Amino acid sequence: MKNIFTFLVGACLSVGAMAQSTLAFDGNAGVKSKMTAYDGTEVSYTAYERLFYVTNVEDSTYQFLNVYVPDGATRQTPIFLRTYVGGYMASPAAQPQAGDATGRALKEGYVVVIPGTRGRNSSIIADKAYAKNRKGVKKGQTVYTGRAPKAILDLKAAIRYLRHFDKQMPGDAERIITDGTSAGGAMSALMGATGNNPEYAEMLKAMGAADERDDVFASVCYCPIIDLEHADMAYEWLFQQTDSRQSLDDTRKLMTKELADLFPSYINSLNLKKPDGTSLTADNFLDYLKSEIIRAAQIAKNAGADIPDSLGFKFTSEAGGMFAAPINGGMRPQMQGGQPPMGMRPMRGGRKQVGEYITDLDIQKYLNYVVSTQALKGVPAFDSQIDGINNASGENEEFGDATGNSVNFTDYTAQKNNTTITDAIRQNVRLMNPMSFIGDGKTSVAPHWYIRHGARDRDTAFPVPVNFATKLQNAGKDVNFLLSWNRPHSGDYALDELFQWIAGITK
Ligand code: DHB
Repeated sequence: MKNIFTFLVGACLSVGAMAQSTLAFDGNAGVKSKMTAYDGTEVSYTAYERLFYVTNVEDSTYQFLNVYVPDGATRQTPIFLRTYVGGYMASPAAQPQAGDATGRALKEGYVVVIPGTRGRNSSIIADKAYAKNRKGVKKGQTVYTGRAPKAILDLKAAIRYLRHFDKQMPGDAERIITDGTSAGGAMSALMGATGNNPEYAEMLKAMGAADERDDVFASVCYCPIIDLEHADMAYEWLFQQTDSRQSLDDTRKLMTKELADLFPSYINSLNLKKPDGTSLTADNFLDYLKSEIIRAAQIAKNAGADIPDSLGFKFTSEAGGMFAAPINGGMRPQMQGGQPPMGMRPMRGGRKQVGEYITDLDIQKYLNYVVSTQALKGVPAFDSQIDGINNASGENEEFGDATGNSVNFTDYTAQKNNTTITDAIRQNVRLMNPMSFIGDGKTSVAPHWYIRHGARDRDTAFPVPVNFATKLQNAGKDVNFLLSWNRPHSGDYALDELFQWIAGITK
């Protein structure tokens, strides 16, 4: 009976709107717990959970955060803030996981914060009090609570909460490191690139967020799905030559071409500079991508990975390692007619010996390889809803409203679909794009960035993260960027390397 009662109370608590008079943090309410880390060591910590970060809670399933303080942490300890947003969907506040970056952060002694956030699929049934306070909402109606820009508003409110209680809580709110993957990578990018921007301020005030700054110290972004209003053109520009796009029906092939043709003027409008100071333009962009993929493959090769020439790579010709001194002393092999002795030559018909350096890449061959590992998205890849042609995408839902509709958000698709993009939708698209405010003089952009996008990730096209990293670099930020070799659409990998980077920026 007690269990059923507890469950019912919990269920009532877990859904719906709720008003609090003030934000609260009780330093005595922590609960001691332990986690077995990936290496078998035990990490003791104190958990503070269900900390509501706004006073006007619209959706009590999501609008709170959890804080985990490892033993030994002080008020000076950096805070690792992980968002589990995926697919632009709602994401509940969670516990640290031994196998991912949250467990690693706890083991390394950082304070871990995991906020919940509303998302495109979160909804509540309006009760009498909710309906009374909102124009046009009737009691019993389903209300979507998390359409754009709600998720980033929730995360900003969470950051403001941490600042509000900075003196009472372990962890240093001036050294927050955000982390997320995919749509969560976008959220991490937004936290890093929109700090204190005034365009979010009114909405945060209405939510009852703390009146504090919301800039952060560093952002870790794995495969961020960003720049949604230009992602379709980048996708078709990159993948148009692949066999997969060439074999489309005529309608889609035409859309591929039309979208691809929009990309050069966009890229040129960004006025980006490569790390060597020369301009990054539509004319040299493919070559730059090629050099970035070669750079990633060379790093992997140096670490012992086998980079197959069948993917389109070319190498220096000398056979690496062939003439190494035999182990345990002994004689170096004598050359026979300019070749190693018989037993040491590559097998006939076997893999070609490759040299130390990657010298070139047939990018079209490589892109066909990427597409062979996972089929491409449809055309258009993001703003896909066109009557009679494609269904709505997650992004079409994301930019819809509280009624749960789906809308177009790019001029190209809106025109094809004979729909209009309202000013409100345009503003939401702007608020959801971390490219919008970098360098505008009104935004506190994080000084440190770690950005990774898998070298065979096709969820968004390579130019999207490349443009973002380059724009940040050009704004003078410390950016560690890589198209990680052989990684698909994924995150929280190479954690040894990530935590070395974090140690470097926080020491
Ligand atoms: C995610 C993946 C996508 O391909 C996309 O368009 C949006 C989000 C994700 O994994 O979060």
